[in-house]
Amino acid sequence: MKYDFDEIIDRKATFAEKHINLEKLYGTDKVIPLWVADMDFRVAQPIIDAMKERAENGIFGYTVRPDSYYDDVCDFQKRQKNWDIDKKLMSFSSGVMPSICMIIKELTNLKDKIIIQTPVYRPFYNAVKQAGRELLESPLKESDGFFSMDYKDIEEKAKQGAKYLILCSPHNPVGRVWSYDELKKLGDICLRCGITVISDEIHSDLILWGNRHIPFASISEELRKITITCFSATKTFNLAGLQSSIVVFPDEKLKQEFEQKWADFHVECNNCMSIAGTQAAFRYGDEWLEQLIEYIEGNVTFVLEYFYRYIPSIRPVRPEGTYLVWLDCRQMGLSGHELTRFMALKAGVAMSAGTYFGRNGEGFMRMNVACPRAVLEKALAQIRSAIEK
Ligand SMILES: Cc1ncc(COP(=O)(O)O)c(C=O)c1O
Repeated sequence: MKYDFDEIIDRKATFAEKHINLEKLYGTDKVIPLWVADMDFRVAQPIIDAMKERAENGIFGYTVRPDSYYDDVCDFQKRQKNWDIDKKLMSFSSGVMPSICMIIKELTNLKDKIIIQTPVYRPFYNAVKQAGRELLESPLKESDGFFSMDYKDIEEKAKQGAKYLILCSPHNPVGRVWSYDELKKLGDICLRCGITVISDEIHSDLILWGNRHIPFASISEELRKITITCFSATKTFNLAGLQSSIVVFPDEKLKQEFEQKWADFHVECNNCMSIAGTQAAFRYGDEWLEQLIEYIEGNVTFVLEYFYRYIPSIRPVRPEGTYLVWLDCRQMGLSGHELTRFMALKAGVAMSAGTYFGRNGEGFMRMNVACPRAVLEKALAQIRSAIEK
């Protein structure tokens, strides 16, 4: 079926975080919210149908994931990425961040050194620091709006005793879809230096312009053995409110330890609606996803061209994946705080401050373009008008 991504849906009515927290974070709710990383699009019809059918059953008691759940996850990964996952090594939790926090807190040791590649999704910093582990920041290198990994720096951090690296693949916020060669080179360092990789692949189905996502664990058997992969259907299919994610471990022992930690808190059960939603998404969502990617590519192209043509003081970074556009606003000469205030209070657009992603995010902003094009047209016109004034 043909999906209509231009449809405007009232999200305030369902308490969407991006609306409800505006006043608290931006000092006004009279703004267009382009910050939280979820989408303003209705989900694929088979997901709605499956959840309706589940709801009609009328009983929402304690529920376990059926075997077919794992089959659906594996089939999708095989179809989309040619990745073979061993079902026995697969676990789940209520989110990729809960998984990463649990892995760091319970499967690493106090004071272990953990590398992140900055600027990066803020909760990575908190997950490491709150667990009392040592954070080693490896800044991405930037050349003319293109970001790449700093291998020399990672080797240096390895010499300092780094034990883990949280890989953001594709990368939020810079939108890189790491190539095979880049991942292989990183993997070689990790193997040589005894670094375990926690690979956050939550954005891995949102791949643009024919780029290809390579699951880190799929590169070789050696790398599989040092990788814990986290992903979900929630980012891909706009199901974040269902709170569900998948983790693939390198061995059964580690998986069992992870599951025991959740069991200690009695969080080993499942949200029954998330099971229905996730299975339908992975089983029947390909058609919607294909149309979504096309629409997002259109939105990204529109945004890029608008900035080039009408707002040349802001230079957008062309994402290879994700629906996030990293905006280089350094020419405006404003601090991170001033920039956020300017965009919210003068332009009426709420975006994520670059500094949310790290110190080297100063002068940048992140724009979420997963919304109807008409919303972007309005937001960009408002930014243009505020800057021209
Ligand atoms: C890189 C990355 N990891 C994790 C998350 C959060 O995932 P979850 O809602 O499953 O905890 C996000 C959400 O934006 C993200 O961008």
